[in-house]
Amino acid sequence: MAELGKIVAVASSKGGVGKSSYIMAIASALAKSGLNVGILDNDPNQPVIEWLSENPVENITATPKVSDTEVFDTLDKMREIHDIVLADMEGSANLGVAMAIASADLVIVPSQGSSLDHKEAAKTLGLIRSQSKLQRREIPFRILFTRTSQAITPRSLRKAYEQLRERKLPFMKAEFNNLEAFKVFVGEGRSIYSLTDEEAPNLKGALKVLHALAAELIAVLKDPSYGSETDEATDAAKATADAKE
Ligand SMILES: Nc1ncnc2c1ncn2[C@@H]1O[C@H](COP(=O)(O)OP(=O)(O)O)[C@@H](O)[C@H]1O
Ligand SMILES: [Mg+2]
Repeated sequence: MAELGKIVAVASSKGGVGKSSYIMAIASALAKSGLNVGILDNDPNQPVIEWLSENPVENITATPKVSDTEVFDTLDKMREIHDIVLADMEGSANLGVAMAIASADLVIVPSQGSSLDHKEAAKTLGLIRSQSKLQRREIPFRILFTRTSQAITPRSLRKAYEQLRERKLPFMKAEFNNLEAFKVFVGEGRSIYSLTDEEAPNLKGALKVLHALAAELIAVLKDPSYGSETDEATDAAKATADAKE
């Protein structure tokens, strides 16, 4: 019997925001901590399948793309045999994404923080809202800022945080920073934990970021209201932003 048995859908209509990379990184961390992780790779390019094709990673199994109408049943079956199921979903208004959102215990909406990204994220939030209404339950979600600089918080990102606070939209406090290690391990087709310092600069820094992301994800899965109180989230974001100045 799975310990958590939770489904996390990672959804955004915009390509290149880091959905697949986040899933492979977070899966590595959760698997390393002993959780049995299933990934539904519904990215048309099948990056997760490709990543695992030569070197399997212990505790991670991936299911290749299924048709939109199969998404719900596939995730439901995967949930039965995994602690955590991660669904890599492309697009915003298609049936497959709607099904993944409907199945999800948590939806992660990645955004790089630009205004264009913001508009794309809003489409996914609209879909989460309509699915919540349809199901007559609040589907928990978090916006996740991705590919951000670890060193500086540009004006555009500060503005994005401000807008989320104004609209009382919950976001992850940890960011999926743009770091070489998060690119390298995918290309190498191995777990991020198998990388050496020579292969990835600032590997330690990347693992620290990853652990913060994984810890926050688990905390939100265990308690969907975790960190969603805007003040708490605001303070953390402000502290992070101030520390970077
Ligand atoms: N946190 C990150 N650090 C460094 N590179 C990243 C990061 N996230 C994504 N990338 C790179 O950005 C590109 C797009 O990422 P990908 O995960 O494929 O996005 P998506 O699945 O949303 O289309 C890839 O080249 C990937 O290596
Ligand atoms: Mg992808």
